[in-house]
Amino acid sequence: MNKESVKILGIESSCDETAVSIVEVNKNDKGKILSNIIFSQIDEHSPFGGVVPEIASRSHVESLSPLIDKALNEAFLDINDIDGVAATSGPGLIGGLIVGLTTAKGIALGADIPLIGVNHLEGHALTPILTNDVSPPYLLLLVSGGHTQLIMVRDIGEYAQIGTTIDDAAGEAFDKAAKFLDIGYPGGPALEKIAKKGNKKKYEFPRPLKNTDDCNFSFSGLKTSLIREAKNIEPINEKTLADLAASYQEAIIDCIKIKSEKAIKKMLIENKKTKIKYFVASGGVASNRAIGESLTILAEKYEMKFIAPPIKFCTDNAAMIAWVGGLRLLRGQKDKLDMQAKARWSLEEMKIHRRINE
Ligand code: KG4
Ligand code: ZN
Repeated sequence: MNKESVKILGIESSCDETAVSIVEVNKNDKGKILSNIIFSQIDEHSPFGGVVPEIASRSHVESLSPLIDKALNEAFLDINDIDGVAATSGPGLIGGLIVGLTTAKGIALGADIPLIGVNHLEGHALTPILTNDVSPPYLLLLVSGGHTQLIMVRDIGEYAQIGTTIDDAAGEAFDKAAKFLDIGYPGGPALEKIAKKGNKKKYEFPRPLKNTDDCNFSFSGLKTSLIREAKNIEPINEKTLADLAASYQEAIIDCIKIKSEKAIKKMLIENKKTKIKYFVASGGVASNRAIGESLTILAEKYEMKFIAPPIKFCTDNAAMIAWVGGLRLLRGQKDKLDMQAKARWSLEEMKIHRRINE
């Protein structure tokens, strides 16, 4: 696209937030958020202790149109001022993805503007460039409810996975534990709050895969250990609950720290010529304060700077989708109107997808 900057309408509907945002992206890869609206479905899912896909899809259908109007109004824009429409096209819950992508296709067709299908993970991966003063290359820890990965972001559009979880994601470890302990949903923030009052050394939880040379994670066994430990404690009162939460959170943090350190070392050896200055975390779990504090100390040990976006941009939002849409549109990359949503779609598959669609 031959423009100095583009205004993109972004739609995010891959899980339990319906979000719409407008971001202006310029050719120097800088972005300005003109509006950012999020409707969280927490109240609708919380009686079930987790996301119910059918409820999520129906709720996206109901809220999306009014949110689009609101996003345009808050940015003082009309649909005719928009240069392109971006929607999360994967990975995520397929029903929600179809709602968002189909809505975006309708807008693209009606307003005669390009459609850009955005990988949700790429949204999280590139958010720090939008919200913080960071530019690639950087080492990224992507920690959310569905993913836990260590990724080398060499450039915009160039990603190499260094490690991933072999079972549950870190966010799932928080969510499942919170559900078992009956302390609220979503589990991460609920568990973090209770953990603040507890003794993190009180209970011994394992650090799965601690001694393997790779940078992979495993969290599913941690929840089993929590259940076993909790059964031995009678009664579970406020104090023991806080100690359990603190010790459990500490185990998750340790696992993240151990594998992040392995990734940093590996990356420093492989990239001797280019100094990698930043260790960046993104995704819902990156909003956890205790994790941030621990990774800041780790980064400093290797003379790197630890960076995480502000909380509202760590968790799911549409600004990150509009942002990636703008970066891609300015590079001449857009998608066809018959593109399909994908429930599974890794970051490393991005290049293949682009080759097919360009
Ligand atoms: O990125 P996100 O909003 O959605 C996904 O793409 O998954 O991440 C949601 C996940 C949930 O598992 C939630 O419990 C977790 O992020 N989370 C946290 C915190 N805030 C959100 N986990 C730990 N501590 C937090 N403060
Ligand atoms: Zn996410």
